[in-house]
Amino acid sequence: MHQVDSNRLPRHVAIIMDGNGRWARQKLRNRAFGHNEGVNRVRDILRLCLDLGIPCLTLYAFSKENWQRPSSEVRVLWRLLKRFLRSELAELTEKEVRVSHLGDVEDIPVDVLREFRYVIEQTSKFDKLFLNLAINYGGRQEILRAVKLLVQDSLSGKIDLAGLSNDIFSQYLFTNGLPDPDLIIRTSGEYRVSNFLLWQMAYSEIYITNVLWPDFHEAQFMEAIAEFQSRERRFGKTGDQVHCIKSG
Ligand code: FPP
Repeated sequence: MHQVDSNRLPRHVAIIMDGNGRWARQKLRNRAFGHNEGVNRVRDILRLCLDLGIPCLTLYAFSKENWQRPSSEVRVLWRLLKRFLRSELAELTEKEVRVSHLGDVEDIPVDVLREFRYVIEQTSKFDKLFLNLAINYGGRQEILRAVKLLVQDSLSGKIDLAGLSNDIFSQYLFTNGLPDPDLIIRTSGEYRVSNFLLWQMAYSEIYITNVLWPDFHEAQFMEAIAEFQSRERRFGKTGDQVHCIKSG
């Protein structure tokens, strides 16, 4: 298992959990079987983040584009999400995890939304770990939504566009108040960002592994963290400048 430096953990890890279907196909099972095993990894990785002390975890659970899948698969995903929210609430509460939603509420089936709202409300006082579920989420849609809200606030005189900054714009996103992801993990070897956290990933480190999501266990997560810690984050500066800041 890779050793990680507990003093230099990412503050926010975001994951594109890909490869459930391929994993199931390799085992000659249906796609639902893969998604079901994917939920088990969600549970494992959440516990691991709590143990390590990573304060913010974002999971891409259902994208705007996922609606295009066969309706039977879409139904499976909603059922799994609902079951996850219901079965995990006690543990989320006990471990003081605060659940939030990134995405649009419109179109989410009412029974799932009811469960989701309940969990969000029940966990809203916690701050040990922020668990953000990106559901019915798209990065471009999020930016457009922010622009619309911003224009409304500008027209009503609530904000002055002359003073608009990155920080102020960020407040109009679903991730308002959260740090941008330091590390974005994508499983199953695809080199795409798939409309995920487009604004927030400006300076994220990206880690892509061929491992399929249902095979992404503790060892694989620790490897991602170790790789993150081995990288030099320059934020546009030169390597020398970054070293000066570190030692100075
Ligand atoms: C991608 O695999 C995975 C998804 C579209 C859904 C991710 C959802 C889960 C892991 C389960 C529900 C989540 C929570 C938070 C309880 P894929 O189907 O695209 O795999 P493939 O590319 O191999 O076909």
